Amino acid sequence: MATKTFIIILFIYMFSTSRAQTPQSNITTGSTLYTNSSPNFWPSPSGHFAFGFYPTGNGFKAGIWLIGSGPANDIIDVWTARRTDPVVSSGAALQFSVDGSRVLLRNSNGEVQLIAEPTRTAVAAAMLDSGNFVLCDSSSQTVWASFDHPTDTLLVSQKLAKDSELYSSMSLTNQSIGNFKLLMQSDGNLNAFPLRSIQDGKYGYWSSYTSGAGHNVTLNLDQYGILYLGNSTGFIVKNLTDGRPSVNGTTLLYQHQIGTSGSFSSKILWVAIVDEDRCVVKGACGLNSYCSLNGTGIACFCPPGFIYIDPEKPQEGCKLNSTIEDCLE
Ligand SMILES: *[C@@H]1O[C@H](CO)[C@@H](O)[C@H](O)[C@H]1NC(C)=O
Ligand SMILES: *[C@@H]1O[C@H](CO)[C@@H](O)[C@H](O)[C@H]1NC(C)=O
Ligand SMILES: *[C@@H]1O[C@H](CO)[C@@H](O)[C@H](O)[C@H]1NC(C)=O
Ligand SMILES: *[C@@H]1O[C@H](CO)[C@@H](O)[C@H](O)[C@H]1NC(C)=O
Ligand SMILES: *[C@@H]1O[C@H](CO)[C@@H](O)[C@H](O)[C@H]1NC(C)=O
Ligand SMILES: *[C@@H]1O[C@H](CO)[C@@H](O)[C@H](O)[C@H]1NC(C)=O
Ligand SMILES: *[C@@H]1O[C@H](CO)[C@@H](O)[C@H](O)[C@H]1NC(C)=O
Ligand SMILES: *[C@@H]1O[C@H](CO)[C@@H](O)[C@H](O)[C@H]1NC(C)=O
Repeated sequence: MATKTFIIILFIYMFSTSRAQTPQSNITTGSTLYTNSSPNFWPSPSGHFAFGFYPTGNGFKAGIWLIGSGPANDIIDVWTARRTDPVVSSGAALQFSVDGSRVLLRNSNGEVQLIAEPTRTAVAAAMLDSGNFVLCDSSSQTVWASFDHPTDTLLVSQKLAKDSELYSSMSLTNQSIGNFKLLMQSDGNLNAFPLRSIQDGKYGYWSSYTSGAGHNVTLNLDQYGILYLGNSTGFIVKNLTDGRPSVNGTTLLYQHQIGTSGSFSSKILWVAIVDEDRCVVKGACGLNSYCSLNGTGIACFCPPGFIYIDPEKPQEGCKLNSTIEDCLE
């Protein structure tokens, strides 16, 4: 499997439209998802990202993924809860506790595991369009964010903080911890190590060579697809990718890899609209809906969990179905 020779996979997801002004879904305390709920995930307002259960191996994993966007229209996982645990079986539940103190994974055999523990009591959760799953307190402050607990992927606007690591996955379809890790060191150096070695510079096989760049240096991915090391005052210590990938209004999924030989490569994994541009037109479909080619025209559809604002006028957009309310930031 090709990915075994690479350390880390970083995806960039670029939106063709400007940053979402859409309301964010407000998942309330006490909300529960089961492996067999329909749907068994909470989508972001755009319908691009989801938090919930996805099938893998002979069971399910809880995590966040990019909906139906892989090369074979499969799931692209961007965050996995409890990576080293075995898959859970059908009947397991994800529960945002009634008291707002935890998000728990309840296995069908009754076993309960912690997924998220906010710093303060949360009153709402939201799957944001950036791919960040957050818990918010009563004053809408974020008290837990999946972006602060990266697994193998860094998304646009996400930072890899000082003393944090990304661990490669076994493969694109198996999110168990693989053989490599990327560490953002407190000395400002970003180093790649084989997993089973001690963290000593001499065992690293790739380095940004930026030690001495100061404290609190972070790895960042900006909205243009540039991967860089920055310090806390916003100064760019080093650009790791040269230049911007071409941005022409389509939605791109990028993969940056650091090879075991120390090579650094970027490639486009997926382009939303390759040869047909009809749906690229901004606003072709309304808020929260997605566009699909329909003969010589287009058709607008709602992502799972959404319904048409006006069923007679699909192009006017979609809204969240059911009890999920708008989360104001
Ligand atoms: C992923 O790989 C690990 C190690 O090879 C294996 O134990 C696990 O069962 C695999 N998981 C899935 C979902 O295939
Ligand atoms: C680094 O961040 C910590 C908090 O995480 C802060 O206390 C410290 O002042 C920062 N250092 C610099 C040099 O910015
Ligand atoms: C960030 O780097 C700039 C340029 O070297 C420097 O002036 C600034 O003090 C640094 N900030 C921190 C917090 O280290
Ligand atoms: C990094 O890239 C950005 C955008 O291309 C450029 O503006 C900046 O000068 C570069 N910085 C360094 C330190 O190379
Ligand atoms: C947009 O950019 C992508 C990636 O560079 C490229 O594959 C695609 O052909 C471009 N589309 C147009 C219409 O230029
Ligand atoms: C697709 O186009 C046909 C013919 O114009 C139309 O009857 C049909 O309603 C369209 N489908 C959707 C989902 O809009
Ligand atoms: C909307 O939600 C209700 C109740 O949860 C459900 O019965 C209905 O089928 C849903 N509608 C769509 C279009 O998904
Ligand atoms: C989320 O919904 C709850 C219950 O309906 C409400 O109390 C809370 O203010 C909402 N939060 C936001 C951020 O909209």
